Amino acid sequence: MKGYDYKVTAAGRINIIGEHIDYCGGKVFPAALSLKNTIYVRPNGTDSINLSWTTLPDKVKLDIGSLQSYANEKYAKFQAGCAHLWKSAGHKVIGCDMLYDCTVPFGSGLSSSAAIEVSTLAALATLAGEPLDKREIALTAQRAEREYAGVNCGIMDQYASANGKKDCAMILDCKSVTHEYVPFRLGDYSLVIINCNKPHNLAESKYNERRAETEAGLEILQTVLPVSCLAEVTPDMFSKHGGLLKGKVYDRCRHVVGECERVALAAEAMKRGDIKELGGLLNSSHKSLKELYEVTGRELDALAEAAQKHPACVGSRMTGAGFGGCTVSLVNKDGVDDFVKFVSAEYKKNIGYDCKIYNAEISDGITVEKL
Ligand code: GLA
Repeated sequence: MKGYDYKVTAAGRINIIGEHIDYCGGKVFPAALSLKNTIYVRPNGTDSINLSWTTLPDKVKLDIGSLQSYANEKYAKFQAGCAHLWKSAGHKVIGCDMLYDCTVPFGSGLSSSAAIEVSTLAALATLAGEPLDKREIALTAQRAEREYAGVNCGIMDQYASANGKKDCAMILDCKSVTHEYVPFRLGDYSLVIINCNKPHNLAESKYNERRAETEAGLEILQTVLPVSCLAEVTPDMFSKHGGLLKGKVYDRCRHVVGECERVALAAEAMKRGDIKELGGLLNSSHKSLKELYEVTGRELDALAEAAQKHPACVGSRMTGAGFGGCTVSLVNKDGVDDFVKFVSAEYKKNIGYDCKIYNAEISDGITVEKL
């Protein structure tokens, strides 16, 4: 892009497995995508940040002296929130022009907002000549999401968006906020991402409700177990003490305990190249999210069910927060075309409108290029 000094990007993400356990201190298994947010940025010698978008006619000017006052801006609140939190933490924020170009589809469960927040912070740090501390960037972006989007989210999306690595997934330990890369090798299989195209209605409030249910469950289990988070509760401990929990709180916690175990098995399966085993774990994860955690809904269930029926598919599940958004499926390479045709037709027949298939690769998180 002519006239700009840097091109800074941060990625959207998929989560292979480990859903709704990041805020319980669990380990999750995400990867960054080639769908990403790009910012073209240059210093402008003023006390403002000027925002513009390749896909919107809007232009917004943020006064660096009053960054806290933009919380109601429709498109600019995330950028203002990030810049405000960054500045409050003692970082230098200098006047600049930022042009946004986002290829992560909005509301798709692929973390467009994390990509926008993380790239904004990376661009501010780059302009100020600061080294990029990707962990700090992710933690600040998570705060922005909590305070400006009203979602009491975990660290997975922002962390994967910042720290993702080409051709690698990561085991992210959400308690210590550290990661280990695992080569993303699927052998004869491909990962297919499909959007059910249902808008996430009420997603924020239901998300916060689930989180509160797991916290209520933890508090009860802590009366008999020396654990600091739900992810420390082993299946054995749960079969002994889970009976203290009632109704939905029991179901939610049972999901968390089972999903933590599945992540460990999935990482081992990928390291061994056992993609069938990995696929089976994806199916169990979807079932648990449907029946125990209740975050799937008709549309995601229809997509996952159609996928799981196809002979080339060894596993399929919803990814992200749920209530809409995308599934991930592991499909034998030779069968991908037929799989896509089959799932698209089944989905249309059952739900009445089209789903959408994305072509994306596993890619880097933050990148910075001097133009
Ligand atoms: C959203 C949140 C994440 C995580 C997932 C569910 O994407 O932002 O922190 O909780 O939902 O796994």
